[in-house]
Amino acid sequence: RPRVLSGIQPTADSFHLGNYLGAVRQWVALQDTHDAFYMVVDLHALTVNPSAAELRTRTRLAAAQLFASGLDPERSAVFVQSHVREHAELAWILICQTGMGEAGRMTQFKDKSAKVGEGSTSVGLFTYPILQAADILLYQADQVPVGADQKQHLELSRDLAQRFNHRFGPTFTVPSPYILKEVEKITDLQDPTAKMSKSSSSPQGILDVLEQPGPLRKKVMRAVTDTGSDVVMDEENKPGVSNLLRIQSAVTGVPVPELEARYAGQGYGTFKKDVAEAVVEVFAPIRERTEKLLGDEAELDRMLAVGAAKARAVAAETMAHVRENIGLLPTP
Ligand code: TYM
Repeated sequence: RPRVLSGIQPTADSFHLGNYLGAVRQWVALQDTHDAFYMVVDLHALTVNPSAAELRTRTRLAAAQLFASGLDPERSAVFVQSHVREHAELAWILICQTGMGEAGRMTQFKDKSAKVGEGSTSVGLFTYPILQAADILLYQADQVPVGADQKQHLELSRDLAQRFNHRFGPTFTVPSPYILKEVEKITDLQDPTAKMSKSSSSPQGILDVLEQPGPLRKKVMRAVTDTGSDVVMDEENKPGVSNLLRIQSAVTGVPVPELEARYAGQGYGTFKKDVAEAVVEVFAPIRERTEKLLGDEAELDRMLAVGAAKARAVAAETMAHVRENIGLLPTP
């Protein structure tokens, strides 16, 4: 079975619709056909300097949401990144294989550091994509299911794998992105040309998985739509309506042309109500299961321990080859 791997940051209390449709839903589907590794990337979250209490809470929240979304600890290895020490170790080795210019071209770094001001940007934010490459290469992943915003980071992972293999002999599988076009970029409800984002969207622009039905409905009803009254897919002239169509189609499984026909001549009102209901219907059971999982922390931690054990076995094997190939002496 081909292997998939992906990760999500515990940098907010809840996943949002973009995380769910762009990534997590594919993770759940792929566990039936692939050898699957999914993690909460707590080391990556350190780049934004959370408090210790916040990081702990959010890491468990993220893990609970993954299980609540349908990841099965029997079929997938679901784990916390920092529980596998090899991530940090391989990251250092890959950092030494990465050019300053190469790392400096990463647009997510440029955007994020511009926002906080260059003086308060950490070196960790700069090396973030290299830690991500380590995450992927450690598990010899064939495919990495993500949203469109991760394309450039995956390109770097591929380059680093190829470079290492070329210099030190075959060591890493070169990973491919797994991106579903229809859901690769879910946009902000208030600013429908920008992606929905934990760090830059306003609360009104984001639909959180753990949010109550009331506020979810309100946000969809107040989503920015476009002039005119036709419910049609038109990214250029109707980015707001297109985003809602994309969301409804993804959530209900009804193809976009069928939705366009259904709402012809009806204006935006009914359409928005239906989108809101469809989203609420998907989110409510995930929220309820998340709450239940968080009620038994010991059990949640036990599930994560099972995942960590599976992950560690694979990571340790890769690291043994890396160490030998690059010339580090065997560990006494
Ligand atoms: P993160 O935590 O920002 O996002 C998790 C996943 O959600 C996707 N995503 C979206 N997809 C569609 N539309 C959106 N508006 C949207 N917003 C977010 C992201 O593309 C991502 O797939 N760097 C990664 C975490 C990471 C990782 C890895 C991923 C660390 N190591 C190894 C893959 C493999 C990140 O910040 O994801």
